[in-house]
Amino acid sequence: MRAVYWKKGSLYILDQTALPLKVRWLRCSKVSEVCHAIKVLAVRGAPAIGVAAAYGMALSKRMKADAKSLKASRSTAVDLEHAVDFVLLEIRGGKSALDAAMIWDNTNTEKCKSISERGASLIKKGSTILTHCNTGFLATNEYGSALGAIKEAAKQGKKIHVIVDETRPRLQGWLTSWELLRAKIPHTMIVDSAAGFLMRTGKIDAVMVGADRIVKNGDFANKIGTCSLAMLAKECGVPFYVLAPMSSFDRKIANGNKIKIEIRDSSEILGKAFKKTKALNLAFDVTPSRYVTGYVNEFGVFRRIESLWKSTKE
Ligand code: MRU
Repeated sequence: MRAVYWKKGSLYILDQTALPLKVRWLRCSKVSEVCHAIKVLAVRGAPAIGVAAAYGMALSKRMKADAKSLKASRSTAVDLEHAVDFVLLEIRGGKSALDAAMIWDNTNTEKCKSISERGASLIKKGSTILTHCNTGFLATNEYGSALGAIKEAAKQGKKIHVIVDETRPRLQGWLTSWELLRAKIPHTMIVDSAAGFLMRTGKIDAVMVGADRIVKNGDFANKIGTCSLAMLAKECGVPFYVLAPMSSFDRKIANGNKIKIEIRDSSEILGKAFKKTKALNLAFDVTPSRYVTGYVNEFGVFRRIESLWKSTKE
């Protein structure tokens, strides 16, 4: 199953706002519909957003303006910019936008497959892995990043157990549980604030998360709550891995302080119950590189960000 696909001139998006209760597909035939789907999180997760935006460009009749709108539809995940820029570059080189989008999509799939295999090699037999947000095929379009590695390890018969953070306020942990149920992988959902206690009492063998933007010094943005997990993991001696394709890396930003953090509507936290209470709904946080045990991308596993930059071709 894929999160997005192209068929006969339209982009089909598996509406993640309807999951896990309903499998519903959105058909987009205009760029504005793709932008809307990205904004409301019908499609979400950095690599999946990138693929949707690349196909969005194939629907465009005004390339420059549509590239701008697509890029503006969310602010933290860098894949969005990279995918749109890739399509623009390929068009200048003589390709059609659709051909370029298909190349982006297929390459992304290969990268996620490789990350899943490399990440699985870090998972020991019988271990318990904690993960945050959703990083499966829903977030990457195929395979997954952190969840891809977890699924691959289970496929290899490693008999693992997954602790799933529910991931407030948008509950991407429910999407992770939906994927794990489909893959028949044993797992337990916890409230986000339970993670520290489980780590302190030795119940977690490793933490694996994805990333929305990893910058030059190795600091990275990911779903809100990731930074606390990383700090707790360090304190408790639990290895903390970040898994993401090169399309989520951003060499142009020197350090995490310069990453733009998306702030979403207060109603995602407060619902309709409060009229006067203010809420600060930070969609992401930034984790300093010193908390990362290893970065996994399609080229390998890297203990230090400097060695990753040295051995990557992009
Ligand atoms: O707001 P979302 O659901 O698009 O955020 C996605 C994440 O932060 C995920 O945790 C993920 O690590 C990055 S994409 C695989």
